[in-house]
Amino acid sequence: MPQPAGRDIAPAKGKLGVMLVGLGAVSTTFIAGVENVRCGGGLPIGSLTQMGTIRLGKRTEKRAPKIREFVPLARLTDLVFAAWDPFPDDAYTAAKKAGVLEPQHLEPVAAFLNGIRPIPAAFDRNYVKRLTGTNVKTGKTKRDLAEQLRADIRTFKKASGADRLVMIWAASTEVYLTPGPAHQSMEAFERAMEQNDPAIAPSMLYAYAALMENIPFANGAPNLTVDIPVLERLAEERKLPIGGKDFKTGQTMMKTVLAPAFKARMLGLAGWYSTNILGNRDGEVLDDPESFKTKEESKLGVLEYILQPDQYPELYGNIFHKVRINYYPPRGDNKEGWDNIDIFGWLGYPMQIKVDFLCRDSILAAPIVLDLALFFDLAHRARLSGIQEWLSFYFKSPQTAPGLYPEHDLFIQQIKLKNTLRWLMGEDQITHLGIEYYEKA
Ligand SMILES: NC(=O)c1ccc[n+]([C@@H]2O[C@H](COP(=O)([O-])OP(=O)(O)OC[C@H]3O[C@@H](n4cnc5c(N)ncnc54)[C@H](O)[C@@H]3O)[C@@H](O)[C@H]2O)c1
Repeated sequence: MPQPAGRDIAPAKGKLGVMLVGLGAVSTTFIAGVENVRCGGGLPIGSLTQMGTIRLGKRTEKRAPKIREFVPLARLTDLVFAAWDPFPDDAYTAAKKAGVLEPQHLEPVAAFLNGIRPIPAAFDRNYVKRLTGTNVKTGKTKRDLAEQLRADIRTFKKASGADRLVMIWAASTEVYLTPGPAHQSMEAFERAMEQNDPAIAPSMLYAYAALMENIPFANGAPNLTVDIPVLERLAEERKLPIGGKDFKTGQTMMKTVLAPAFKARMLGLAGWYSTNILGNRDGEVLDDPESFKTKEESKLGVLEYILQPDQYPELYGNIFHKVRINYYPPRGDNKEGWDNIDIFGWLGYPMQIKVDFLCRDSILAAPIVLDLALFFDLAHRARLSGIQEWLSFYFKSPQTAPGLYPEHDLFIQQIKLKNTLRWLMGEDQITHLGIEYYEKA
């Protein structure tokens, strides 16, 4: 078979500007982490782009380069950063307040972090009820705010000398919204911005500004944001990659590993009770029932799609699934997530599994931000436009093209991601069929 051609990918020359919405725990842990890695102060553990390899060709060929040597990604030394936040703290102060990294990882990069000051945010308390900020833009209409965000993007590009930009939402979870008439066409969306329609959340203004300035947009929270028809179409028209929603980090990552295992073995599931305690600012925001509702929807979807109760009614037709998040300040960013899972086996005999994950939220999220920045930039240079389903690996509630269902199984997502990289570079897909042995027989 002839080798597939691969994709024409523009080189990763010059600097890549990462524009972060929100300069809280996740963003500061990401930025400080990259600077530590660049200075030799630590390893980028958890990052597939930095640590991962990819097998190519037949197993006998023993070809498994590092992903970052296989696809043309921006290098860590090429990254420059900017962020918006309604709190005026620079990245060093914000990182100290977030309390994720120890002084050994903050003090050596303090001067660097001091230099990153948040741009005034397009912020509205109606969408994040537990926060009040002073570093906030003013404007008569939401359209004015969107235009100010566009100006911020151009200013940062010029000042930083960045060749290319990507934008990532790592800001607080907004209140629950569903797609409505204002989200269907550009005319309706722009009119709604001008009329200060409550259907337009601040996160949509950032996404709109990014796309109008021709930069990819990834959404790390469960808000609708770029998951509305008007912005999906805008991304397609402008050949821009978009994706979301909600970084897949702790408890949901475990869920999308365990649920496929039960299904693979045809073990039944009676119930799954997940509860968390966390005490960071994210926990405080999620303590508001309207923001929690947005998160809950994102966390609840996974089992339904993985287990397909319609196809396996005896095994998965009657599952009790519950997710709770409890704000508990003493724990800070060090979340504890408990899962009680009631499964059943042969002849219906019940069994239980308990998971107690003492995780660190932002330590798990930071490498995801890095990978998304690098892969969205790659996708842009490879002219992959619209929703990047191959990056579902990183999201709790993956955005999909209309009419398709999301893929949640972490290992199917990983295969899809790696096969997309192979396809981009003109390498054969890996099917795990082992055909060479059957052909020999
Ligand atoms: N493991 C994880 O940490 C994880 C996993 C999945 C999703 N998330 C999501 O990522 C987001 C960031 O998490 P975090 O722990 O860094 O939270 P955080 O509260 O520490 O930081 C969020 C920051 O966003 C700012 N913000 C709020 N609205 C804004 C706006 N309109 N414009 C600009 N900035 C705004 C806040 O002031 C805050 O500083 C949250 O939505 C969270 O739910 C986190």
